[in-house]
This record gives sequence, C-alpha cells and structure tokens, in this order.
Amino acid sequence: MKKIITKIKKFQHFYPYTVAIVGAQAGKRLNYMACAWHTALSFEPPLFGILISKKRYTYQIISEAREFTANFISFDKVKLSAQMGRVSGSDTDKIKEFEVKLSPSKIIKSPVVEEAYVCFECRVADVRAYGDHDLFVGEVLAIHEEEGFSPEGVLEGGKIQPLLYLGSDFYITINPDTLKHVLPD
Ligand SMILES: Cc1cc2nc3c(=O)[nH]c(=O)nc-3n(C[C@H](O)[C@H](O)[C@H](O)COP(=O)(O)O)c2cc1C
Repeated sequence: MKKIITKIKKFQHFYPYTVAIVGAQAGKRLNYMACAWHTALSFEPPLFGILISKKRYTYQIISEAREFTANFISFDKVKLSAQMGRVSGSDTDKIKEFEVKLSPSKIIKSPVVEEAYVCFECRVADVRAYGDHDLFVGEVLAIHEEEGFSPEGVLEGGKIQPLLYLGSDFYITINPDTLKHVLPD
C-alpha cells in the first residue's frame, strides 16, 4: 500500500536530477548557482529551460545579461555544487572564494565553468513565472563537451559519472554496470 499525501509541503520525489551550475556575466557582475530544476524543451530549435527563484542573486544577473551558461558537473565535483548552491553571490564572490575556473564562451559573453563535463551557451528567449520559480528558456547556441559522449550527445556509460541530486543536500551517481541499450523487439 502506498502512503497518500494530500497536504503537500516540500515534494522532492521526482529526484534524482543532474546538477548544472548556471549563471552569467552582467557588466562587471559575474555569478553562478547550483541548479537541479532544468529541462530540455525543444530539439528544433534547441531550447533548454532553467527554473530560478526570484530570491537568487543569479536571477538578477541572468535577467540583466539575457543569457546564461548551464554547466553540468561530475560526481567528484560534489563540493562545488554545495558551494554554489548553499552560498549566495549577494554577499560572497563565489568565483573567487571557491576558486571556480572559468573559460570564455564561443558565442555569448558569459563564461563557461571549466570543470564541467558539458556546458551549454544559451541566449534567453523567454521568461515565465510558475509559482515561486521563473522559467528561463534559453536557446542553446553552443555546446562544449568533454570526451565521453556519442556523436548524438549520449553520455557513454562509465566514462563520465554525472552528479545526481536527491534533494536536501544528498547526492548520488550512476552505476555504469547497469547500462543497457534496449529496443522494443
Ligand atoms: C543541488 C542544488 C540544486 C539547486 N537547484 C536550484 C534550482 O533549480 N533553482 C533555484 O532557484 N535554486 C536552486 N538551488 C538553490 C540555489 O543554488 C541557492 O539558493 C544559491 O545559493 C543561490 O545563489 P545566488 O544567490 O548566488 O544566486 C539549488 C541548490 C542546490 C544545492
């Protein structure tokens, strides 16, 4: 028998999700945060969405820059997720404090996070409020990928161990031994 909850306070049952470090540069202000609420929205054109609370400093920066990078990190970079996700750029220069290595983007002005295994350069195409978070829809203009992806952009099991978030500061990763390529017949 499943327990049925109708007074829903904090629902996190949908995890695990991968962690992206998202952020941008607006003039001299440069800031990134951990983001687990993200989703692909369209292949053609390539659209990628991130959900950001108005409370985040990153919200201001991305709103001003009208662009962002989404930088996916591996399990060994778990500390970076906590640093970028539990400290605000409104009172700490996280890039300096946590020695985050950045490198220039190809198309947009905001840098990518060097230690990520894949980075998306996105230009904001739309912003819409959904409850306490806003959905920033980014058009993906460039993808920086480390070795470990197939030509179709599929993560090849074992080469990269993505960081997966379980909610409430718990993390896990994949077991490459479970990899299966399954077709319907
Ligand atoms: C793993 C993880 C995932 C997170 N995902 C999101 C998210 O998707 N959207 C959001 O608004 N905040 C999310 N947060 C919270 C922000 O990252 C956090 O409040 C951060 O300190 C904001 O930094 P800023 O004020 O410098 O923007 C997440 C935190 C963690 C640890």
